[in-house]
Amino acid sequence: MTRTAHAEKSVETRIVPITLAEAAARDYDIAIGDGLLDQAGQLIAERLGARRCVIVTDTNVGPLYRQRCEAALARAGHKVLAGINVAAGEGSKNFPTLQVTLDQILKAGADRNTLLVALGGGVVGDLAGFAASIALRGMDVVQIPTTLVAQVDSSVGGKTGINAAHGKNVVGTFYQPRLVIADVGLLDTLPKREMLAGYAEVVKYGLIKDAPFFRWCEQNGMSLIKGARAAQIYAVSECCLHKARVVAADEREKGERALLNLGHTFGHALEAMLGYDDRLLHGEAVAIGTGMAFRLSAQLGLCPATDAYEVRDHLAAVGLPVKPAFVGAKDIDQLMQLMAQDKKAEAGKLTLILARRIGDAFVSRDTDAGAVREVWREFLAA
Ligand SMILES: NC(=O)c1ccc[n+]([C@@H]2O[C@H](COP(=O)([O-])OP(=O)(O)OC[C@H]3O[C@@H](n4cnc5c(N)ncnc54)[C@H](O)[C@@H]3O)[C@@H](O)[C@H]2O)c1
Repeated sequence: MTRTAHAEKSVETRIVPITLAEAAARDYDIAIGDGLLDQAGQLIAERLGARRCVIVTDTNVGPLYRQRCEAALARAGHKVLAGINVAAGEGSKNFPTLQVTLDQILKAGADRNTLLVALGGGVVGDLAGFAASIALRGMDVVQIPTTLVAQVDSSVGGKTGINAAHGKNVVGTFYQPRLVIADVGLLDTLPKREMLAGYAEVVKYGLIKDAPFFRWCEQNGMSLIKGARAAQIYAVSECCLHKARVVAADEREKGERALLNLGHTFGHALEAMLGYDDRLLHGEAVAIGTGMAFRLSAQLGLCPATDAYEVRDHLAAVGLPVKPAFVGAKDIDQLMQLMAQDKKAEAGKLTLILARRIGDAFVSRDTDAGAVREVWREFLAA
């Protein structure tokens, strides 16, 4: 069956298993479908039994979905001890919010058998996942991702954490959830800009390892963004399958998992330069960074120039930014410095994810700084 035919198939629930090479006891499922929030209690009970639960969500998602989540849990015999609403936004990935969250979990009477339910985007998932990994020396966590970024990326794979003065995601743990429930119906309320930011991460999987998936994105990306259910379920499933494979082989990012950082070193430099504020969402930075990584690959003679143009054209066609705004040529020195400081730089060398072609990315550990500077110059030209 072709990928397009997949997208036109009737909407169904899919289960993607995550199998961890090092510890089969920690294997878990990702359930992907439409309306799964209402089945969350049952999906959890089937795998983990009836549990006492604490829900962690944020001030945008809580009013929209917390009641439905609580009702679904109660219907399946779970007992909800408390719901915690952290302030929406990246600012909540910090020590004070972690402390308040931990306090509230313990105040609710949680014990080591209590289940934490992370209902929200990547911020809630990262924060609640981290809290789960350290509260009572480890509580089970179920992720119910509500953004496209979280459904295709952050809820899967077990990276948790918060930001600190020294950078983004620099304090955290590898801690796998017990189940992920991705309900694409929840994406209906997501602001368009957030949806697009998530789409940059979807395209990434095709660019790294799966050229036919990139072609599928070229044909179906717009309908996915506009809310076509079958396309959303298909894309989330494909992305999770890719991530599952990568995480299974390299849970702690010692090798292949680094490929998922395509576009991220350029993107992180831009985000850091702008102080991680609302002017540039993470996914938007990734879109710009991905275009830059392909352009650099072409400049270095590693990848056909036409591939770099195709990547840029598709990202632009769906409405993602492909050129940095709010920074200029005068900022290149600082951007280069920020790239060198990025946590993916090893032993002072610039480690970047580059590509041989669409669908064939690789880790380049010693990239010529002059060529990187040249690409910044090109992208920052008026
Ligand atoms: N752990 C990982 O492997 C991993 C991977 C990628 C990104 N991340 C992290 O994820 C975070 C970004 O995640 P994000 O883009 O989901 O951001 P987010 O959690 O801040 O969500 C974006 C915005 O959308 C709102 N929102 C969420 N779901 C909604 C819905 N269904 N309807 C309406 N509004 C909704 C949120 O309240 C927020 O305002 C970053 O902190 C990043 O570091 C982690």
